[in-house]
Amino acid sequence: MTALLTTKGLSRHFGGLRAVDGVDLALDAGEIRAVIGPNGAGKTTFVSLICGRYPPSSGRIVFDGEDITDMPAHLRVRRGIAYTFQITSVFAKLSVYDNVALPVQRTLTDGRSRGAVHHGAMDALQRVGLASRAHEQAGALAYGHQRLLEVAMGLALKPRLLILDEPTQGLSDGEIENFIALVREIASDATVLLIEHNMQVVMELAHRITVLNAGKVLAEGTPAEIRADAAVQAAYLGTATEAGT
Ligand SMILES: Nc1ncnc2c1ncn2[C@@H]1O[C@H](COP(=O)(O)OP(=O)(O)OP(=O)(O)O)[C@@H](O)[C@H]1O
Ligand SMILES: [Mg+2]
Repeated sequence: MTALLTTKGLSRHFGGLRAVDGVDLALDAGEIRAVIGPNGAGKTTFVSLICGRYPPSSGRIVFDGEDITDMPAHLRVRRGIAYTFQITSVFAKLSVYDNVALPVQRTLTDGRSRGAVHHGAMDALQRVGLASRAHEQAGALAYGHQRLLEVAMGLALKPRLLILDEPTQGLSDGEIENFIALVREIASDATVLLIEHNMQVVMELAHRITVLNAGKVLAEGTPAEIRADAAVQAAYLGTATEAGT
């Protein structure tokens, strides 16, 4: 199997701070990869480099065989990289429907077929369980539902790689169960890179887990391997139960 995404020596410094520090990562097509690590470990910065929000200080990023290190963010979206940010970024004044219709329009070549936009938007809303709320104002949704709307906005781009940054923050236990099923369904035709503090979600979903600590990869392995790793226990897992729930 060839990797869909690889990073080589990927680094991002903010002044003297090495937020991401020489990360080598290879993500297989179809994989669900969790990235975990303590607050400030560099997780959000790392995915910001992949989606092109910031340029790296050094290192390379290859997606589907193409070096995308210097590619602008909007072209990465066209290559199939979609992301939902840790901070909710829905358009609060627009309807739930319009929030999803906008990214659908980006995927259509003519951008004007109302039938295709409607179908794409409703399909994405259905997948996250928000179809019945299509006409509500997005800003009126509960915080957790706004996060699900963001996932729908990502899905509307028909991504090959979907990056989710703490998507379960603010979801109830029942909603988290639905979310786990949703990510499994998404992974049937996309690769998922999931930053997540909730260890139940991580352990149930991830094929492999990468642990970041102080900008570096501390460990990588299956959920069972990571659970058994003493260094991970010391750096993170010992406190993750409280932090994640
Ligand atoms: N734009 C920025 N300018 C300066 N420092 C930054 C910037 N973005 C992130 N940092 C710093 O880089 C480090 C890594 O931050 P990052 O947000 O990537 O961590 P994280 O692993 O996502 O943490 P959390 O679990 O709290 O979301 C932190 O020390 C943070 O303060
Ligand atoms: Mg973060």
